[in-house]
Amino acid sequence: MGTNALGLKGFLTVSILISLALNLGLSHSESLQIDSGLDVASSNFSSSNDTQELRRSDFPKDFIFGVATSAYQVEGAVGEGGRGTTIWDTFTNTPGKISDNTTAAVTADQYHHYEADVELIKELNMDAYRFSIAWSRIIPGIVPYVTLYHWDLPQPLEGNFGGWVNPEIVKHFTYFADTCFATFGDRVKHWITFNEPTQFCVNGYGTGLHAPGRTSDRTLSSSGNSSTEPYLAAHNVLIAHATVADIYRSNYKHQEGRIGFTIDCDWTEPLSDSEEDKKATERRRAFQLGWWLDPIFFGDYPSLMRQYVGDRLPQFTEAERSLLNNSLDFVGLNHYTTRWVTSQPLPLNPAQSNPLMDQGVLTTGVDEFNNGTLPIGDALKDTRRVNYYRDYIISMHQAIQNGADVRAYMAWSLLDNFEWAVGFTSRFGLYYVDYTTQKRYAKDSAKWFSNFLQYEDAYSEDRRH
Ligand code: FCB
Repeated sequence: MGTNALGLKGFLTVSILISLALNLGLSHSESLQIDSGLDVASSNFSSSNDTQELRRSDFPKDFIFGVATSAYQVEGAVGEGGRGTTIWDTFTNTPGKISDNTTAAVTADQYHHYEADVELIKELNMDAYRFSIAWSRIIPGIVPYVTLYHWDLPQPLEGNFGGWVNPEIVKHFTYFADTCFATFGDRVKHWITFNEPTQFCVNGYGTGLHAPGRTSDRTLSSSGNSSTEPYLAAHNVLIAHATVADIYRSNYKHQEGRIGFTIDCDWTEPLSDSEEDKKATERRRAFQLGWWLDPIFFGDYPSLMRQYVGDRLPQFTEAERSLLNNSLDFVGLNHYTTRWVTSQPLPLNPAQSNPLMDQGVLTTGVDEFNNGTLPIGDALKDTRRVNYYRDYIISMHQAIQNGADVRAYMAWSLLDNFEWAVGFTSRFGLYYVDYTTQKRYAKDSAKWFSNFLQYEDAYSEDRRH
């Protein structure tokens, strides 16, 4: 694909993800966008759905298939183009924070390969690309689905005044978002304000495992309060989302785009039939989905959260409530797996707690060993990933048949990339990246998508018009 087809020359960053749009029993205009993917390198696995033949033409004509990434994870070129430092640069440069002691200073170097990477997306027969714009600097006929905040806060906003914990962050984020709407809004019609806020609020300010690494655990950080800061950060994220959605709807209506956010939520089931485990499962869902959706659709945090977090959970003012009300045109749902839930005792001292402990739950699931150093020949034969995607898409199709309002599906990820705290030990891509030469190689899963998504009949002719 030539430069012209990229459409978004101005963006200096690109990133990959999988998204679905589903209806969670909200109103008709709301849909869910789900990101999913598999980080296993390869294994021989047979699918339960081998006999099922599903094709793109089984999906509605306007259904969107795409891939996803985020700026810090794939872009590299951290010292180029006037880019500022972000909290992930600082965090990855701190010894002991990343399991393989790497940084994403180069990673998949999409900053220099974005045109070729958009070719790959075309090769996959995908319609869309979900990437994030690096806030600390300001790309891609593929439809852009743009994430405004995928975890890379400019370092001065953290260091000088406390990042997401300080309500002042709202005006800074609003200024950034407004600049993006004004600059790219003529070409971008799908805006995602935040990616997985639970992750950066809980891990950035609670467990300390992600940037900026604040936590009460003094073996990990000299500052932070895990029992309050994640809730304060989340509160400011919600207000920032609502403020930006209001500005987009008020000042950029003529751009005729849609605005939403993406939250992560694995499906959960109680491990046993006990009442305790059933209740624990409800709490888990309240802390994952309700934390973000209840304030927007019901005007407050879930009552279960209020009960378990008490005074540490901030209150909304009337003005904030009305700003938040229905501030989503769609909901993106990042979903990878299902987990079992068991009830756990609450911490005796709430001051020592964090949102994971406050829920009083323990989750278990199947964690796959993800071998980022597997030889390329083996890594390209990613049979298990092919089966994962095929079975996932078959289930999604069944859900649509059963009435779920799913509008789009984005696969994480286009390329192998920097996987946050586990560095390069994990390879989520449809394309294998040789980090020495920056050459991309199609895995079997890339070939599967390209084949599954090919336009072959009257359906595609119709779709193109
Ligand atoms: C997604 C995150 C993305 C990456 C993948 C594996 O949900 O948003 O940055 O970590 O998980």
